[in-house]
Amino acid sequence: MLASTHAMIVIAIDGPAGAGKSTIAKALAKKLSLRYLDTGAMYRAVTFAALTRNLDLSNESAIAKVASECVMLIDDDSIIIDGLDATQEIRGQKVTRAVSIVATNSLVRTELRGRQQQWVSEHGGGVVEGRDIGSVVFPDATLKVYLTASPLVRAKRRVAQSGGDVELIAAEIAERDQRDSSRSDSPLMKTSDSVMVDTSNIDVNEVVEHIERLVVARQQNKRASS
Ligand code: DC
Repeated sequence: MLASTHAMIVIAIDGPAGAGKSTIAKALAKKLSLRYLDTGAMYRAVTFAALTRNLDLSNESAIAKVASECVMLIDDDSIIIDGLDATQEIRGQKVTRAVSIVATNSLVRTELRGRQQQWVSEHGGGVVEGRDIGSVVFPDATLKVYLTASPLVRAKRRVAQSGGDVELIAAEIAERDQRDSSRSDSPLMKTSDSVMVDTSNIDVNEVVEHIERLVVARQQNKRASS
């Protein structure tokens, strides 16, 4: 049980594609009665809007304009951008292939980072998943978790979700990981103060319970030291 009188709780869940972030972050949010924010969906929605407008994704200022001017309504299981429900489309191949290009755009990152911080403040905290949540967006998060899993397990999970060939998907994931971890602005990385959890051979419930215990322990430590 979480303490009822607490400062805003923010749990950062970072890690590469297929590490189990969404499943675990959603389940954790439910258990802790917190809201869940999928920041990857925000990058995907901007990519969707840019593709819909036939924009050249390498035109940084044009894509940044889309990010800053769009009206984005994000919920636990849906995302609406400029009045269009993009929940399904953002998971499609076109967006998935293009999104890491948009995610290297620093202007887009600055805009979305601000929206993420605002969202969390408006919702009184949350479980936030992404790549730079513990490192950049919420460096003072209550708890930072870095989820990982072996490349093969990650590829198999993606195939189970959306179909396709394991080898092909593994190659695509590797390419995206490489872009996400090597970009100059807020790359995917494990911060020294985050807890690493390898989900390759652990059941979702076990991971969630483990993280829940860590959150409770953090709160107890905080109370003891205040
Ligand atoms: O988690 P996902 O696969 O939906 O993320 C989509 C892309 O957005 C992926 O290339 C990583 C990027 N991303 C990011 O750079 N920073 C975030 N906070 C979340 C996602």
